[in-house]
This record gives sequence, structure tokens and C-alpha cells, in this order.
Amino acid sequence: MEKKEYTGTRSRSSGGFIWEMMEGSWKYFWGCVAAMTGGVAFSFLSPTLVGFIIDSVIGTEPIDLPGPLTAYVENLGGRQWLFDHMTLLAGLFLVIVALSGLFNMLRQYLAAKLSESLAFSLRQRLFDHIQHLPYAWHMSVQTGDIMQRCSSDVDMVRNFVAGQLADLLRILTMLVGAFVLMFSINVPLATAAAVNVPIVMGYSGVFYRYISRRFLKADEAEGELTAMTQENLTGVRVVRAFGRERYSLDRFQEQNQEFSRRWIKVGNLLAIYWSLGDLIAVCQGALVVIFGAWLAVHGHMTSGALVTFIMYNGQLAWPTRRLGRIIGEMSKAGVSIGRLREILLARPEEDSPDDQIFPIQGAIAFSHVNFSYGSHPVLTDVSFSVAPGETLAILGATGSGKSTLMYLLTRLYELPEKGGSITVDGVDVRQIQRDHLRKNIGLVLQEPFLFSRTILENLRLPAPNKSQEELQKAAETAAVHRSILGFAQGYDTILGERGVTLSGGQQQRLAIARTLAGAPPVLVFDDSLSAVDTETDEHIRKALKAREKKATTILISHRVTTLMEADRILVLEKGRVKQIGTHQQLIKEEGPYQRIFQLQSLVAEEAENESEVVGK
Ligand SMILES: Nc1ncnc2c1ncn2[C@@H]1O[C@H](COP(=O)(O)OP(=O)(O)OP(=O)(O)O)[C@@H](O)[C@H]1O
Ligand SMILES: [Mg+2]
Repeated sequence: MEKKEYTGTRSRSSGGFIWEMMEGSWKYFWGCVAAMTGGVAFSFLSPTLVGFIIDSVIGTEPIDLPGPLTAYVENLGGRQWLFDHMTLLAGLFLVIVALSGLFNMLRQYLAAKLSESLAFSLRQRLFDHIQHLPYAWHMSVQTGDIMQRCSSDVDMVRNFVAGQLADLLRILTMLVGAFVLMFSINVPLATAAAVNVPIVMGYSGVFYRYISRRFLKADEAEGELTAMTQENLTGVRVVRAFGRERYSLDRFQEQNQEFSRRWIKVGNLLAIYWSLGDLIAVCQGALVVIFGAWLAVHGHMTSGALVTFIMYNGQLAWPTRRLGRIIGEMSKAGVSIGRLREILLARPEEDSPDDQIFPIQGAIAFSHVNFSYGSHPVLTDVSFSVAPGETLAILGATGSGKSTLMYLLTRLYELPEKGGSITVDGVDVRQIQRDHLRKNIGLVLQEPFLFSRTILENLRLPAPNKSQEELQKAAETAAVHRSILGFAQGYDTILGERGVTLSGGQQQRLAIARTLAGAPPVLVFDDSLSAVDTETDEHIRKALKAREKKATTILISHRVTTLMEADRILVLEKGRVKQIGTHQQLIKEEGPYQRIFQLQSLVAEEAENESEVVGK
């Protein structure tokens, strides 16, 4: 069997998370870094050129260019030549600016590629990981909330990588580069200009802490809103049936208002933050111009150098402010990353290496099983066994723990170490590989779920390689073949939202057929005949009995007529085994079975009498 690879996360922080998700996207990352470096380098060249023109072409400062360039220019005719060919210099300036722009474009293109590739693999990871999370996890979360995380939180991370992260790298490079250049021009002025950086960073840092909590709350409100919308859409029939649209709307409005309120709060905070940041930047610009002018007037620097300096400072004004914003916006991405990490950190179902795979015959034994959901005890000291090929029926009031027994058998919920033992063919289920166990124990869930695909595709789910004839046979056994042929497209009929809506009984029968299609050695019907009429119920049971290879069968039902022909019947009461035996034994024994049997026979008799009356 192919080895499963779980794609959770091992990261300890948001940064680590991004790093981990970058796998497979590094080429874009490095391309992005290269384009960014090119862009920054060219953007630094233009102020230098302007400074040179002012000082050495228009002014009279000596020509001082790097390497052999000085000698080359002197050869051409020096300052006078340059002065006469000013258009050439202007052209050079344009070329530099254009190249810088081109690199920037390339950087943005690669950043978009990077973020798209990252978001793609993130979505794949999430989907796969969620598939492997235990049933208990799925029961404990809200589907809407998880859906919101998989869509808008992934989007947030994608935008962060394409926008903020790429900008952050560029800004840091620019800051370092510009300050190296500015310090080489004039140390006191560069120092004055640099004072701004820690102020903006500190201010942003404080703000970052403050706003991230608000973002979290706003995001939670969004998750709740999505969850509520999703629940209402799913439950629209219930809402309509009870005429509770008004109530639903009121509840939605409350949540909707809460959501708006929280985002308005975040928006207000951001507005204050951005305006204050702008104010700081303007003050810093003014300081540099005034101090720089004073230095130039007093001969501490040339006017060309001052212009170059002011241009650099101007180039920095936007990135420094942007840096602040990025730090602020990082909180948003941080929150999203946290919410995604939470999913990816949840422990998936993992088989231990010595979990077994063996051909299952179908002998089942529960021995002193105790189980509780949290602190709510559900099963107490449950012991019983089923021989291979035997049919055991389980009868019990709602909430008595029947479904729970089956969840434990198939390891949808894990039986704790001290909770007794459940064995299949003498092997503890906790030592059997989950996949293998579930493939061999065909469980028809109490609430069948069919996918919005064709009937055939639904039947194929447990048996991808079975021929259509075999699947059809399963459908015949489940007494649904004729209903299927009744649809215009037969087995190719699409179910659900895009196609035909099945009745409750048709759904149940199709779910039974689907389980039978896998031909597992153990069959479990969890109240799977509740929505079919007694006649069809009998028909299905007879067909099951007539199958050439008899599977071990566990039949859960509230209806005595469904159960009475089973080899043995187990009566569960409040999580305890109350009675166990054949129908003949149990109706003679004083106890719940006798009571229920008498009650249901009485009801059936009355119904019969009534129909006779009506018939006359
Ligand atoms: N995922 C869960 N988390 C917490 N409690 C649960 C969970 N599932 C079931 N329970 C509780 O465990 C008890 C037994 O539930 P179970 O579904 O096994 O009953 P059941 O016998 O199958 O009932 P029914 O005939 O209505 O299907 C109930 O009290 C129920 O509230
Ligand atoms: Mg149940």
C-alpha cells in the first residue's frame, strides 16, 4: 500500500510557516529577489546622476567618477563636452529610470507568481490535512468557520506574500542601501535623517501589538458570520418549515452588526495610525531640507550633494511609511497564519507502523467497553460478540449509545487504553490499520451523505474498480435499482443541488447500495432502514440473506419487525447491555424487549384494523 504523507505543519512561528509553505516556490522567490536588487540599484543611480550634473556639469566641481570613467570623460572633452551634450545625459537619466521601472515590474510579476504558487500548495495542504483529521475534530468545528479559513485566510496569506512580504524585502534593501549612500555623502545630515527610522518602527511596533487583537476579533466575527450563513443555507428547510425566517434574520442581523462594528473599529484605528505616520514623515522631510540647506550654505556639502541627498531621502519617505504600514498589516496576516496553523497543527489520524492488515473474517467482540465523550459517560461495561456470518441486531432508545458502539468499532472515535477492548478476528481494533478496518467494515451511517455527482460515481466510492453490473447488483439488493431506472438518466443521474433530489428512503437505500458495492466482510446498518416502508425493509433483509457470501451483519433499528429475524438481538439501555438473545427467548423474558414488542405489535394490529375499515 502506498505510504500516506500527511501535510500538516511543523512550524513554530508565522515566519517559519511561510518558510515551510515556500517549498516548491523558491525559484520565484529568488527571481523576485534578483529583480528587486536590480530595481533598487537603478533607482539609486538617478539621484547620483542629478547630483553629478549639478556639481560637475552645471557647477565647477572636478569630475569624480568611478574607475576609468573619469579618464574617459576627460578624453571626450571633459565638463564642456558634457555641458554641450546635456540631452545625452537626460537620455541616460530616462534609461536609468526606465530600467528601474522594468525591474520593478518584473519583481511584481514574480511576486504574484510566488504568492499564487504558495497559495496553491497551501490550499492543497489544507484540503489533504483536513481529510485526514479525526472524526472527533470534524464534529467539534463549525464547517463555515473552516471554510472561511480555507478561503479568506488563504487569500490574506497570498496577498501578504505578493504585497507586503515582497515590499518588505525591497524596503529593507532600500533602507540599507540608501543610508550607506547618505552616510557617505554627509554624516551629520544622514544621522539626522536616520533618527526617523526607529521612531516609525517603534511606533508601528507598539501599534502592531495593539491592533492584532482587534484583527483577531474581527476575523472571528467574520468566521461566525460565515458559519451562520452556511448553517442557515443548509437548514433552510427547517427554518421555512417552522416559519422562523424573522428569527433567523434577527440573529443574522445581530451577528452582521457585530461584524461591521468590529471592522469599523479596526478601520478607525488604521486611519489614526496612517495619518500620524504621514505627519512624522512630513516633519522628517522638513528637518532634512532645513538642516541640509544650512550645511550647504556653510560649505559643509555641495549643492549637488544636497540635491542627491534630498532625493534619496525622498525615496525613503515612502518606504519608511510603508514599512510602518506593513508591520501593521502583518498583524492581519499573522492572525490568518495563526488560524491556518491551528488547522494544520491538529493531529491527523496516524497509523502506527505496527498496525496490522490481514484478511478479515468478521468475528467481532466487545469486552468491558467503557466510553465517554468528554465527561459525559455513554457506554458502561458493554460486552458482546458476533460470530462470522452472524446477524446481530441492536435495539435501544435514542441516545442509548448504539451509534457510538459503531464509531468505536470503526475507530471513528478512538477507544481509550483503559476503556476495555474491541476486537475483530481476535485483534484489537486499535492495532488494525484504520483504512483497512473501515474498508472491511461497511458502515451505513445514520445520516447518509451522497455527493452531488452521478449515482454511479456515488456507488463507485468504495469500489472504484467494480464493473457496472456488480454495482447494479448492489443496487438491486438495496431495492433501489428500479427507482434509479425510473430517472431519465438512470445511473448517470446527477444528485443533489445540481440534479435530482432523492427522497429520504431513496437516499438510505442508495447509501446501503454504496456500502454493499464494496462487498465488505462486515456490514453495519445504523438505523438505515428507518425511512423505508416495512415491505421494502423486508425485501432488503431477504436479499441480504440470499447473498452467496454472508457477511457479519450488525443491524441497528428501532423497529422490532426489522430486528426479529436476526440471529441474536441485543438490547441497549443507557449505555448498558440489558438483554441479549434470540427473538423467541427475549419475548418470553420479562424486560424491555417484551414491552417494546407488545407495544409495536399493538400499533401494527390497530393500523391493520383501521386499513380494513377504510377498505370496506
Ligand atoms: N460527538 C459527540 N460528542 C458528544 N456527545 C455525543 C457525540 N455523539 C453522541 N453523543 C452523545 O452520546 C450519547 C449516545 O449517542 P449515540 O449517537 O451513540 O446514540 P444512539 O443510540 O445512536 O441514538 P439514536 O438512536 O438517536 O441514533 C447521546 O447522549 C449523545 O448526546
Ligand atoms: Mg444513532
